[in-house]
Amino acid sequence: MKEMTYGNVRNAFSGESQAYVRYMLYSEVAEDEGFKNVSLLFDAVVFAEKIHARNLLEISPDGVEASTAPMHSGIGDTETNLDKAIHGEEFETNEMYPSYYEVAKSQEESEAMRIFNWAMRAEKEHAKLYKIARDKVEKGQDIEINLINVCSRCGYTIDEKPPEKCPICGAPQTKFKEFSQN
Ligand SMILES: [Fe+2]
Ligand SMILES: [Fe+2]
Repeated sequence: MKEMTYGNVRNAFSGESQAYVRYMLYSEVAEDEGFKNVSLLFDAVVFAEKIHARNLLEISPDGVEASTAPMHSGIGDTETNLDKAIHGEEFETNEMYPSYYEVAKSQEESEAMRIFNWAMRAEKEHAKLYKIARDKVEKGQDIEINLINVCSRCGYTIDEKPPEKCPICGAPQTKFKEFSQN
């Protein structure tokens, strides 16, 4: 793998790993504050970020790379946590993955292109779901979402039953993992 794409893969892995832990902690705060469904949303996205981290690690060759992943420090209340989560997802969707994708494309790294593209499109859905949650929590209300499905191949996340085929990676319905309160 060429150097710049390699660095980007490692950096993205670091970012996804951090999001994984961050959202686990945010889920606990939401649970404590009585936002059970927001907590469920965080749990589902934790799983999605693990998928992204796994995909990146799978294509990552051995080596040591300094991480420059963006850091969102601290744990706030659920409203603050959702703001940070939205900021992180939007950064990944609008800046990080598009630029990594372009580098991978110019270096003809087709595997990295595919993984960056999948993650970018999944993160966009995360931002959308977190915004719905933030708007509710702002008013002191929990979200009405109580069923979330995540594609175990690409991390695509949807607040309803799984589609027949994943719109991002084409995985069949059976590849979806369901999160619900029951
Ligand atoms: Fe995400
Ligand atoms: Fe998928």
